[in-house]
Amino acid sequence: MSQIVFDGMSLITPDTVAAELRTAASEHRIAADNARAQLALMLQLTELRFSTGVDLEQATMRINQDLHQIRSQVSPQVWESLVPVVQDHAVSAFMMQDPFTRWSFEKPRGYSGDAQLLDFIYRHPSAQDAITAASPVGQTLYQITSASQSSAAVRERRDLLTTYVDEVGETLGGGAEVLTIAAGHLREANSSAALRNGQLARWVALDQDPLSVGSMMRDFAGTAVEPMDGSVAGLLTDTYELGQFDFVYAAGLYDYLPRKVAIRLTKKCMQMLKPKGTFLFANFAAGIPDDGFMETFMNWSLLLRSEEEMWDIINASVDRNTVDAHVYHGDNRNIVYATIRKND
Ligand SMILES: C[S@@+](CC[C@H](N)C(=O)[O-])C[C@H]1O[C@@H](n2cnc3c(N)ncnc32)[C@H](O)[C@@H]1O
Repeated sequence: MSQIVFDGMSLITPDTVAAELRTAASEHRIAADNARAQLALMLQLTELRFSTGVDLEQATMRINQDLHQIRSQVSPQVWESLVPVVQDHAVSAFMMQDPFTRWSFEKPRGYSGDAQLLDFIYRHPSAQDAITAASPVGQTLYQITSASQSSAAVRERRDLLTTYVDEVGETLGGGAEVLTIAAGHLREANSSAALRNGQLARWVALDQDPLSVGSMMRDFAGTAVEPMDGSVAGLLTDTYELGQFDFVYAAGLYDYLPRKVAIRLTKKCMQMLKPKGTFLFANFAAGIPDDGFMETFMNWSLLLRSEEEMWDIINASVDRNTVDAHVYHGDNRNIVYATIRKND
């Protein structure tokens, strides 16, 4: 019997995501050869547009749309075969001038979606050196990619998380306990009034990357934030004695978790809630406009989920009679959120 490997890094490679996608049956809407020919033409046109240097933004947005369209018209298997075609093209080398795209593609921390990558999206000062070192074209490309809809959605998610934590802090006064799973650099804490005003008893922030845990230790020394070097695997095997929380959440994690692991983690998180506590998980939404660009130029594959797939995880994890559950999209529609509140 095959075993699911839970550990952090092994979960988050394009290969594991592709393997999950391969299992989804899908009809071939246009033949592979046809798609390949279309793609070659689009890339050639993009190369031409880039070489004239007339309007980088328009050219980048155009190839973004083209990739999204082709991706939506072919089976996951055909799309998988087209990804290297894009990655080996001269347009890809051009795109690498963007420090955000390059970081995503090269994965300096050895896995996809690390917290430093997110700092490019947050336009955080920690990314400034890499931006300053980029070519003028690279800097323009960064302006474009960091303004994309998916990037805007991640900033919206950060702000939404701050709001949730602040509400818990406001409601419970000084005793609120929060757990963040896959916390990264915990940028949502930077503008948290609850943290600033001492309304949190503790904010445990768990991540599998020691560099990110170190960053949180520096940034939040002397606050209620308790950075913790830990993994989903550790949570699922009851390695830590964390106690219970009023609010548990995971953002930027479920996008890498196959359904079975997502369900196991959801069950575990529900067990870690106090009465009336809330668990939230976020996931990039199926059909986002930047999916093709991310999977090719950025080599950043995610398990995109629909509202139905979010409900499926909820329904497989909890008894719906004991909770109040909601699934909704953020305002910009690129990220879908699930909240599960214990009735008692
Ligand atoms: C996309 S980042 C999200 C960071 C943060 N939540 C945010 O929204 O900015 C994903 C984070 O998940 C962490 N991570 C990935 N797999 C993990 C696992 N199995 N256990 C714990 N952390 C994990 C990574 O180290 C990384 O910091």
